[in-house]
Amino acid sequence: MAGAQAGQAAALRRGPFTFGPLEEGEALVEPILGSWEANIDHALARSPIDVCSSRGEDAVVLGNLGVVRVLQVNTAGRDAAVREGDLCLLLPFGLLDRYGYAELAYAYDAPHTIGLLAKRSKMDVRLLLPIPADTSYTLPQWATYGRYFTAWDNWHKALGCWRTQVGDDDPAEHLVFGWGGGVAFAELLLAKRAGFRVAMTAGSDERLAFLRENGIEPVDRRLFPDLSLSPRQAGADRERLARHRGSLADFLKLTDELSDGRGVAIFVDNIGEPLYEATVKSLAREGVITTCGWKAGMRLSHLRGAECISRHIHVNTHVWRLPDSAEIRDFQEASGWMAPNGSTTLYDFDQVPQLAEDYAQGRIGSYFPLYSVNPL
Ligand SMILES: NC(=O)c1ccc[n+]([C@@H]2O[C@H](COP(=O)([O-])OP(=O)(O)OC[C@H]3O[C@@H](n4cnc5c(N)ncnc54)[C@H](OP(=O)(O)O)[C@@H]3O)[C@@H](O)[C@H]2O)c1
Repeated sequence: MAGAQAGQAAALRRGPFTFGPLEEGEALVEPILGSWEANIDHALARSPIDVCSSRGEDAVVLGNLGVVRVLQVNTAGRDAAVREGDLCLLLPFGLLDRYGYAELAYAYDAPHTIGLLAKRSKMDVRLLLPIPADTSYTLPQWATYGRYFTAWDNWHKALGCWRTQVGDDDPAEHLVFGWGGGVAFAELLLAKRAGFRVAMTAGSDERLAFLRENGIEPVDRRLFPDLSLSPRQAGADRERLARHRGSLADFLKLTDELSDGRGVAIFVDNIGEPLYEATVKSLAREGVITTCGWKAGMRLSHLRGAECISRHIHVNTHVWRLPDSAEIRDFQEASGWMAPNGSTTLYDFDQVPQLAEDYAQGRIGSYFPLYSVNPL
């Protein structure tokens, strides 16, 4: 992706990209599969930040989640955690804070980092996590790990917060609800394993069927056509506001039914602003709104008094903790908490501009769009 005038969306351009020799602690890699994520979409839209200008670079190679093959490692004679030939997951960490959480993301806003949308790349070996050699899962299944690792971290923080107020109540009495997306899907499967009732919205028959097959109560968001409304639009159009109130009442009736009148215990909301009123209003007392995303808007406002009196807890997370990566991988391998086989959609390297367009237009049925860079 190249730099451009401020405010203009960026275009993906294919071209030569050079990098220097392998430094000590770096590996030369061949990207195999990349996962298309909202952060690539944000970078192309130059919103909420322009990564070229924030990095001070003319061109940036995007793609920070995917599977690579290690071609060469410069260990300077020391043992390294990865070896030539290993297939590894790229951990998208640029700058870490003192606890191991990401402040800047690799191949996004962290300067001088090279992503997976290149035939060859080089990266710090500490960011490479080998896939188990005897894994039971396919490479496309592993290539979805970014949404799963993010969900793992967000879910554990949300559950921990909910438990501080609800003690040892049986989760089977409580509803965890999610707005659409692959992170929410993965998170609801953890909630289900923890014994909660789980439900999630989707906008197509294909996705509704997929949710049902995976044990999540599907909620067709087309039944609430005017639910999504940004507060900035709300005042201007009375008819629209009236329709919105109708969709909101229908949605609250549904969450009431699914929760036996208690409301949503934990709401996984990665959509944000236009659905925030519905999110807050459907929440139970002592409920948790948990998020790592703001797909449709990140400026939110609420009545602090109402939130305090309802004892709502708001959880905000980003990526996961680098030192937790091996544990999450091992949990995936051992437990089968993994994107179902065949649930990914794969684009060739030459089709990446089409993938960008299809994703931005919401035309991809799968929650897990992938691109292939080099053959296995
Ligand atoms: N901070 C982090 O570490 C991190 C990591 C991963 C993702 N994220 C963020 O989390 C968000 C979700 O990412 P994702 O990968 O799970 O999903 P995604 O691929 O971005 O898809 C989101 C889905 O939400 C649904 N949706 C979109 N607009 C909606 C609206 N106005 N009302 C209701 N549903 C709507 C659509 O599904 P349906 O049409 O089927 O409903 C859409 O496919 C993104 O903003 C992403 O940047 C953050």
